[in-house]
Amino acid sequence: MIIIMLGAPGTGKGTVSGMLSNELNIPQVSTGDIFRKHINEHTELGELAEKYISKGQLVPDDVTIDLVKDRLQQQDVQSGVILDGFPRTVKQAEALDNMLENMNKNVSMTINLTTPEKELIERIVNRRQCPNCKASYNLVLNPPKKENICDKCGHELTKRKDDNKDTFKDRLKTYFNQTSPLVDYYEKQNKLYSALVSQSINKMGKDVTKDVVEYIKKNHIT
Ligand code: AP5
Ligand code: MG
Repeated sequence: MIIIMLGAPGTGKGTVSGMLSNELNIPQVSTGDIFRKHINEHTELGELAEKYISKGQLVPDDVTIDLVKDRLQQQDVQSGVILDGFPRTVKQAEALDNMLENMNKNVSMTINLTTPEKELIERIVNRRQCPNCKASYNLVLNPPKKENICDKCGHELTKRKDDNKDTFKDRLKTYFNQTSPLVDYYEKQNKLYSALVSQSINKMGKDVTKDVVEYIKKNHIT
């Protein structure tokens, strides 16, 4: 099963992917997490990626496509994967279709998350993460019990460098210009599942996850 998570920054791609990964027992692969790992380890790829990520721009297609091509060869993703944040351009989507065709596979479904813009910014600027166990917090909605300390493992929490108002605006612009055409791309292939994730209708990541799991079962998606 190959699931793609689509959505503007902060819509909950990481949150829903994590829950789905547990429910469906397939790994989550986040290109953003891979880039951030490289940035922390000061690799050549990390240096390159940081130039784009810090400006809210996309890492160039050829670099990102090669990275995912390698990742999809690994053993742990052979029976399924949740792609969190890839593809993000039509070129990446076409490259993914080609890669999968060569592996006798195809995209099972694309989950398109949407959230009102006002809520997105609140989520992003208040997000804190644990660099050790990857737990995610929101200082307003889901704060840690002890200030700046992870409830799960006791590590100090960090804030992503791109989680500030200005970079968020650029990330959002990039999303609308370069990524949102993928909604059409997958709709035309009949592979789009759209969900509104918003406090305004009290629909949280766990509700969307439950709905998606039911949809997969009902429609025999493999
Ligand atoms: P990436 O790491 O993918 O960041 P993003 O797309 O900007 O999205 P986020 O991770 O910020 O948000 P999310 O949708 O995962 O939401 P989350 O669950 O965390 O990419 C970073 C950068 O890497 C890109 O800008 C680009 O430069 C580069 N990159 C990555 N992939 C690339 C590609 N394919 N090609 C080129 N470049 C690429 O939730 C956010 C917050 O909201 C959390 O605090 C969470 O607790 C909270 N929250 C979640 N759901 C809810 C809810 N329902 N109600 C209230 N709060 C909620
Ligand atoms: Mg994410």
